[in-house]
Formats: sequence, C-alpha cells, structure tokens
Amino acid sequence: MKRILTGLKPTGDLTLGNYIGAIKQMVKMQDEYESFLFVADLHALTIYQDPKELNERIRKFIAMYIACGIDPNKNTIYIQSENEYIPAISFLLECNTTYGEASRMIQFKEKSKQNANFSVGLLTYPVLMAADILYCDSDYVPVGIDQKQHVELARNIAIRFNNRYGETFNLPEPLLNKNGTKIYDLKNPDKKMSKSEENPVGVISMFDDRESIISKIMKATTDNYNKVCFDREKQPGISNLLTIASELSNIPISELEQQFANKGYGEFKKYVAELTANHIENIQKKYNQILNSDILEDILNKGKEKTKKIAQEKYKIMKEKIGVTRNIIK
Ligand code: TYM
Repeated sequence: MKRILTGLKPTGDLTLGNYIGAIKQMVKMQDEYESFLFVADLHALTIYQDPKELNERIRKFIAMYIACGIDPNKNTIYIQSENEYIPAISFLLECNTTYGEASRMIQFKEKSKQNANFSVGLLTYPVLMAADILYCDSDYVPVGIDQKQHVELARNIAIRFNNRYGETFNLPEPLLNKNGTKIYDLKNPDKKMSKSEENPVGVISMFDDRESIISKIMKATTDNYNKVCFDREKQPGISNLLTIASELSNIPISELEQQFANKGYGEFKKYVAELTANHIENIQKKYNQILNSDILEDILNKGKEKTKKIAQEKYKIMKEKIGVTRNIIK
C-alpha cells in the first residue's frame, strides 16, 4: 500500500484554504493509502508564537482534522514535536542540502524580506519538512501549490543522499488537488488565503460562525463583467468563489457556470455563502463533540508510538551509512 503524508503548521486557525488544499485531499484518499497526518508544531516556531495560544492550537488542529473526516482508524495522527528523531534526521539532511538550495525557496525569500531579523529556522524550515516526509518513505504528499517547491526540495535531498550513501529514501511526489491548489483571499483574490493574515476579512477560518462566513463571502471582491465565469486572469474573485463552490459541492465548475449563466453576482454569492456556512457548521458540530471527548489522548499516543519507531529505525540506518556509529562499517 502506498503511503501519503501531510502536515499543517499551527500559526493561526485552520482556514478554508487549508481544508480544501490539504485536509480534504487526505480524507478522499484515506481508503486507498496508508495515511499519516500531523500537526507541524515545530514549523510554527520559525516566527515567534505565544506559547499558550500555540499550545491550544495544537489540540484544536487534531480535533479539527477528525471533524473534517479524517478517520483515526485509517490514519496515523500525531504531533511532530513528540517525535525527537525528526529534528535529528533533519540535521543529517541539512548537511546534504546547499545554502543556495535553501535560500532559493520562494517562501524563505518572501518571509525573510518581511522581517530583517528572521530566524535561522526560517532558512532550514524546508529541510525539517524534508525530514517529515522522508523518515517514513512517503510516496505522495498532498499539498496546496505553495508547498510544492518544498516537496520537490525534499525529493532532491533524497536523491542526493541516495547517490552519496546508497539507497536510503523513497522519492516522494507532491500531490495537488485539481481545482483547489490555491484558495485566494476573498478581499484580495491575487493573494493566497492565509491563516497568518492580520486582517481576516478575506479569510474564512474553520472556526468562524455562520454570520461571519456569510458576511465575508457576500463582501468578497468581484468585478464588473457581471458574468459567473472561470477566468483567473480577468475574474480572480469570481473564479475563487467558483473553486470554493465546486470543491464543497462536488459539482464541476463548468456546471456551476451554466447554473448561474443568467444570474447576478448577488445570487451566486448567496449560493456560495450558504453552501460554505452549512459545510463548516457541520464540521464544527463534530469538532465540539471531539474536543470534549477523551479520544484524542489515545489517538495521539498511538501516533507517537508508531511514528517514533519508524523514525528511529530510519535515523539508525542514516547514521550507519554516514559513518557516525560505533559499529565498524564494512
Ligand atoms: P501550512 O500550514 O502553511 O498549510 C497547510 C496546507 O494547506 C495548504 N494551503 C492551501 N491550499 C490551498 N489554498 C490555500 N489558500 C492554502 N493555504 C495553505 C498548504 O499548501 C499545505 O498543504 N510547511 C507546511 C507544513 C508542513 C508539511 C510538512 C506539509 C510541515 N511539514 C510535510 C507536508 C509535508 C506548511 O507550512 O503548511
């Protein structure tokens, strides 16, 4: 059985973008693959996080994964920082990554520009992500398009390590959702919908109440064409709403275009707003039950145990291949 794996970093509340770009893909594939899903809490630390808020978010993420349809019986669910072998593997991979490669990452370039005092962790972040992916020989990594470059870097690091030290890692591939590789900010539809956005008017959080969801969608930026048509260049706002509607209803974009061919933007927005509010409201009902139950401890303990065993074994193999072992290499 092929293995899929993905993680989300708790730097803010999960958004509709995270749900469509990553979580929903995992739900769709959980019957066919051996699935690993984690909270990338170490990744959140590249930028300062309030410890209490971060701590609360880790648990909220796990409960939200399950509420979104991630089946704990079909997925290994865990918290990244509980597996100490992953940062250890990451360092060995760092020594097989060039500074040029790491500094060419788009996300590093953008974020390091925003704050001159960026942490070293911001630079090494994609290598930690490579460790997340490679320690368990993932075959596929479902992500939004913004993370594709990082998965490709993980693959290149694996190729280099295999060439230097012999076959050690499986080569992973990013897996992009056909429509929803990127959900855009509702107010600024040229920009990614992001959980760390300071001004959340264009961001739908999975924790927003019904009224806010409806109000945000009704106020989404559109255009003057007055035609519900998918055209990312000319009509980015309407195209974004079409993507969201299609992802949440499973109706193809072309059919939605036909359905709203002679209707105004008001009617279309109302449809998307109701659809999204209903969808998220259902997830929130399950979320509240899960958060107040005691199933999380058991799920996380199992996830920790299983992934630690796998990572420990991979770390041992890497050390032996590299030569940092008491055993004499033959
Ligand atoms: P993060 O937390 O920024 O995002 C989590 C996942 O959600 C996707 N995503 C989106 N998809 C569509 N539209 C959007 N607006 C949108 N915003 C976010 C992201 O592409 C991602 O798939 N470095 C990763 C976390 C990570 C990871 C990993 C992922 C750590 N280790 C190993 C995969 C494998 C991150 O910051 O994602």
